[in-house]
Amino acid sequence: MSLEGKRGHAVASPSLALIKYWGKQDQGRNTPATGSLAVTLDSLKTTTEATWAEFDSVTVNKIPQELGRYQPFLTNLKTSLGLGSQGLAIVSENNFPTAAGLASSSSGFAALVGAVSDLAQIEASSAELSRWAREGSGSATRSIYGGFTVYDAGAEEAIQEWAEDFWPDFRVVLCVVRDEAKATSSRKAMELSRTTSPFYQNWVQTSPALLSQARSALAQRDWSALGPIIRQSYLRMFSTMFTSEPPVIFWQPESLAVIQALATLRNDGLSAWETMDAGPQVKVFCPANEVETIVAELGQRVPGLRYLVAGPGPGLRRGSIA
Ligand code: PMV
Repeated sequence: MSLEGKRGHAVASPSLALIKYWGKQDQGRNTPATGSLAVTLDSLKTTTEATWAEFDSVTVNKIPQELGRYQPFLTNLKTSLGLGSQGLAIVSENNFPTAAGLASSSSGFAALVGAVSDLAQIEASSAELSRWAREGSGSATRSIYGGFTVYDAGAEEAIQEWAEDFWPDFRVVLCVVRDEAKATSSRKAMELSRTTSPFYQNWVQTSPALLSQARSALAQRDWSALGPIIRQSYLRMFSTMFTSEPPVIFWQPESLAVIQALATLRNDGLSAWETMDAGPQVKVFCPANEVETIVAELGQRVPGLRYLVAGPGPGLRRGSIA
């Protein structure tokens, strides 16, 4: 079969965790030490095209990437798909800031797996795609599925907990504090937490309870039960970063200002609960009818931020997408 001139396409969206994965259980297999519960976002997208080439190359937002981060992943993916050592040219576009803690690695690796398997005309189940994406980035394991997903500790693939129409009122306001890429990758930072933080074991031991409480609260669509658990998860995760040696501090002054402003807004009756990832951005989970107020209030209290709004969205889409 001649595949020359063929192109593979895929679109994937970031997977934002309500309950965090942080730390690896097994480095080689890239499995997580803590289970996570996440939502796949609708309005943020990575669009990827894969073509056959002489050598492997990866371009993100028109910028050629260093292959180091991608090469082991591409090599393994080609082996898993039975593609031998054929070169691949990967061209990817994000419609949101890249590598700034907006989970671009989740949508990026999910879309990459989608585009390459489309190029190779391989019919794969979501579970298989999820397993392949895992080798690129833990959170990409979840981005294969839409709606709300669970990725258990030690698991090789994620599962869909609820479809994207489960909670139509659910929104995320992403507060962009800094546009530039972060200095430390999540991969490096979580490994530093694992190997140096005195709080890491505690983080791993206490996270199953957070995950199961959050799953129950989500099943009830109960903001007042879910919110405090979301908050505990990201703050416990960051406590392992603050206490690493050397410490990892992704927060910027505006990140803390947003956190404090939200505490005030909750006292005034809003159901807005924040989380953060490996970057300075603050993401706020809230009911749809609070989005406007939150953006207006934060705009006054913490000037200069940019906002993106998303709801639960679909999982990986493969093939030519109009
Ligand atoms: O997928 P990675 O390796 O970039 O790690 C993601 C880690 C967090 O975003 C901080 C948490 C999560 O569960 O997405």
